[in-house]
Amino acid sequence: MLNQINVRLPAQSAYSYPIVLGNGCITQLNELIGRVGKVSKILIISDEEVAKLYADKLVQDLSLSYPTHLITFPSGEKNKSAENKAKIEEQMFKLQCDRHTLCIALGGGVVGDLVGFTAATYMRGIRVIQVPTTLLSMLDSSVGGKTAINTSYGKNIIGAFWQPSAVLMDINFLQSLPQEQIINGLVEAIKIFLTFDKAYVEKCTNNIENIIALEHDVLIDIINRAVSLKAYVVEVDEKEQNLRMGLNFGHTVGHALEKITNFAVLHGYAVGYGILVEAKIAELLGLINQEDYQVIENLLAKINIVKDYLKQFNSQDIVVAMRGDKKNSNQEIKVVLINGIGTMKNIGNQVAFPVAENMILQAIDCLKGE
Ligand code: GLY
Repeated sequence: MLNQINVRLPAQSAYSYPIVLGNGCITQLNELIGRVGKVSKILIISDEEVAKLYADKLVQDLSLSYPTHLITFPSGEKNKSAENKAKIEEQMFKLQCDRHTLCIALGGGVVGDLVGFTAATYMRGIRVIQVPTTLLSMLDSSVGGKTAINTSYGKNIIGAFWQPSAVLMDINFLQSLPQEQIINGLVEAIKIFLTFDKAYVEKCTNNIENIIALEHDVLIDIINRAVSLKAYVVEVDEKEQNLRMGLNFGHTVGHALEKITNFAVLHGYAVGYGILVEAKIAELLGLINQEDYQVIENLLAKINIVKDYLKQFNSQDIVVAMRGDKKNSNQEIKVVLINGIGTMKNIGNQVAFPVAENMILQAIDCLKGE
């Protein structure tokens, strides 16, 4: 099965890019490159671990049609840095890359963000095709054009919106991942379904074992729906002025957990615990009922994301860490609030609302059983 979703930016203009999704669809990359316009040279940029698995074959295949080079950098979040960006640029100059060079970002979110940002600034912007190899990067960072590096002042704090020319998602890449990494990504799909699509919340609940087992049809269906919803959000609000903030459901608390654990908790898991807290806040505010909250708790429990995890933290520490969230303004903590399963509070596309700190504390304490 091969699916194609088109992202149109802005929604009314002729500019759009395809997202190709399938099992084994990496074989379509050459054809996809043919659709992006004149290409003088191809640079596959990847981390050392992903490159070991997939780069040789790709370089060999693409070399038949284009001068193709491989650039790698060490894997890991700490390498999404200005230093590595500069090293990649240095190699690009040495290879005489020009404005018709096409970058292929082959890897997870770190690769996609770093390569996307390098492409955004090299000679004021060259084209990039995102080829995500993790479920998290398929469902999140490869779509929507957010690119960034980390600095000592924070994660993703320097970056640009730079839309890819195409995205190619081959679920075959997921076979090499441990189950923890599948769950890490799946939470992002659950998040977008909880805010936009009740039927798919039910589908996830009823098919969770098959999804985790990477059963092709159901997995492609879930990714296709989640990515289509994200594409819709990005078309409406590319620069995150309003609706795109809805993609941050579970993230205000999730980012706080990442911060206080010094990123020991994986992003998707942190968002999962964040969803529990932010759904409990919605329940305490009377926006959802107890049964709705229970649907969410039961679904996340199926992937071992349980409220007891929160017991190890001081609730106040979580709230203090939430004060630095990018969505905040006027020193108020802002949270995306669901008001049903598959729907969120939305006033004129504004979807993040101030919540009192004592309400957040109450929700966390309630989940901790205090
Ligand atoms: N990761 C959320 C977004 O792309 O806006």
